[in-house]
Amino acid sequence: MRTIALYPGSFDPPTNGHYDIIKRSATLFDKLIVAVAENPAKKYFFSVDERTSMLREIVREYDNIEVDHFDGLLVEYADKIGAVTIIRGLRALSDFEYEFELALMNRHLNANVDTIFMMTDEHYSFIRSSLVREVARLGGDISDKVPPVVEKYLKEKLF
Ligand code: PNS
Repeated sequence: MRTIALYPGSFDPPTNGHYDIIKRSATLFDKLIVAVAENPAKKYFFSVDERTSMLREIVREYDNIEVDHFDGLLVEYADKIGAVTIIRGLRALSDFEYEFELALMNRHLNANVDTIFMMTDEHYSFIRSSLVREVARLGGDISDKVPPVVEKYLKEKLF
């Protein structure tokens, strides 16, 4: 049986921290689906198409990684694509409470789907999308925080 894992997120925008988790997860599973969330109640900086395009460019050279987007419940999307594992990254203790609730709620909603956590690489422990957006908006250097395609999208959108 081929093991399919799902790495969901807002990816607004994708960072090097996300990319690190993607690369490491893809070595553990036959197939990895990176799933961009589209929640109508949430306001994103980049559209779902932009976030999906950036990720497709980032993972272009990996045969076993696909990028998709979803709305509605994550566990329903997991069922639809045949994934029984959700991957989430953990940076610091501050991530834990939210991730703990998310994982328990998802398992409550669908006991067939479990969440595993990957510890961030220490280089990326302080990187999150909202900070990257803020630094970029204020003209700071984000070239070592995001893949080149994301830096390009940010510059085009901001300036
Ligand atoms: O990158 P983020 O914003 O931390 O990702 C959060 C995400 C998209 C994984 C989460 O909000 C989610 O799964 N949303 C889909 C809707 C859903 O299933 N909500 C119930 C989960 S407890």
